[in-house]
This record gives sequence, structure tokens and C-alpha cells, in this order.
Amino acid sequence: MTEAPTGRFISFEGIDGSGKSTQARLLAEHLRGQGREVVLTREPGGSPGAEEIRRLVLEGDPGRWSPETEILLFTAARRDHLERTIRPALARGAVVISDRFADSTRMYQGSFRANLRPLVDQLHALMIGVEPDLTLILDADPAISLKRGLARQTAEDRFENMGLAMQEALREGFLALARSEARCAVIDAMRTPEAVAGDIAATVAARLEPAA
Ligand code: TYD
Repeated sequence: MTEAPTGRFISFEGIDGSGKSTQARLLAEHLRGQGREVVLTREPGGSPGAEEIRRLVLEGDPGRWSPETEILLFTAARRDHLERTIRPALARGAVVISDRFADSTRMYQGSFRANLRPLVDQLHALMIGVEPDLTLILDADPAISLKRGLARQTAEDRFENMGLAMQEALREGFLALARSEARCAVIDAMRTPEAVAGDIAATVAARLEPAA
């Protein structure tokens, strides 16, 4: 009897402008080069419905949504992403690489604007219920990252506009998360993209045995 293929679920996390998107793409290319099927995706978004929700949460005035409404919108987007993109890909044995996942909600909505972490955790348990096999936390200097992020000049800077103090608090939050969750690996992102990519490839090889 042959076993059903098991996919692997990898998430990238970190503060705004830490280089996640570039590194997620480089890891996808690296794994494809090894012959793996890779689904490279992102949050908020990653499915047509969730991409629509992305616009609602990332554009416009920072005070556009109450903290509670914002958590519901991110969770709704994640549920759609999970149903339509992540679960089907894992079921056929693909590696899913997501640029952000639930840890972003834990950090951005759970601890910064108000102490809503219990609400975030309850909604996650009710509606999402899965964690990545491996979470790569890109650790970068908030002052440098914020400049990088804002230099991109997109309409999607509702969170970046909340300022440096928020990015510093987020960095501490991500590092604390990494200390408490075995699935997390902290990657020093203040190096050349090639050096960071090499570190990530080695971490993935060491942490995730190749799927059958
Ligand atoms: P992203 O596109 O990853 O931006 P960047 O490349 O600048 O890091 O994420 C967009 C923003 O959405 C980012 O500021 C973090 C925020 N976000 C949350 O606040 N909660 C969430 O659950 C997610 C997935 C993202």
C-alpha cells in the first residue's frame, strides 16, 4: 500500500520590509529546482476571495476598522485561503510557502492595538485550527525595514503608517513567539539576500525531512 503524499506547510513571518517576500520566492525557486511542487502564496490573500478582503484591510485610514472587526476580516480571509488554496495543495503533496499566516494576526491584531490575544486565539481554534510545519521568522532592524517598506510607496501601507514604535514592539513579539514555539526558526535578515536564502535553504533541509 502506498501512503498518501504529505505536503509541507512553511510560513514566513517578520516585520514590514524584512524581506519575506523576496525570500519566500527564492525558497520556492530552490525547492522547485529539487523537483518539488511548490505553491507560493501570501496573506492576507492567496485565493480570489481573500485577495478582495486584502484590499479592505490594507488600504485606507489606519482607524478604518475597529480592532475586533479587523480580526474577523483577517480570519475570514485566512479561512478562504485555507479552504481554496492551502488544503488542496497539501493534500496533493505540494510544499505550500505562505508569506505570512496566523502568527501575523497574533502579533499585529493580538497584542499591539489592544490586548485581544485571547480573542485571536479563540477564533483561530474555531475557524483555522492548523499551524505551519515550519515558520521562518525573518529578524531585521525595524528602522531600516520601515524605510524599505515605505519606500515601496504602495497603497497598502496602513500598518507601516502606524510607525517605528509599533515595528519595534512587533519585532519583540515575533522573537518571543519563536522562543515559545518549536516550529519557529529565527533567521538573521540583515545580510545579503543570497546569504539569507542560503541559511533558509539549510534550515528547511534540516527541519523538514523530504516528503515521500
Ligand atoms: P505584507 O504584504 O506581508 O507586507 P510587507 O511585505 O510589507 O511585510 O503584509 C501586509 C500587512 O498586513 C503587513 O503590514 C502586516 C499586515 N497583516 C496583519 O496585520 N495581520 C495579518 O493577519 C496579516 C496576514 C497581515
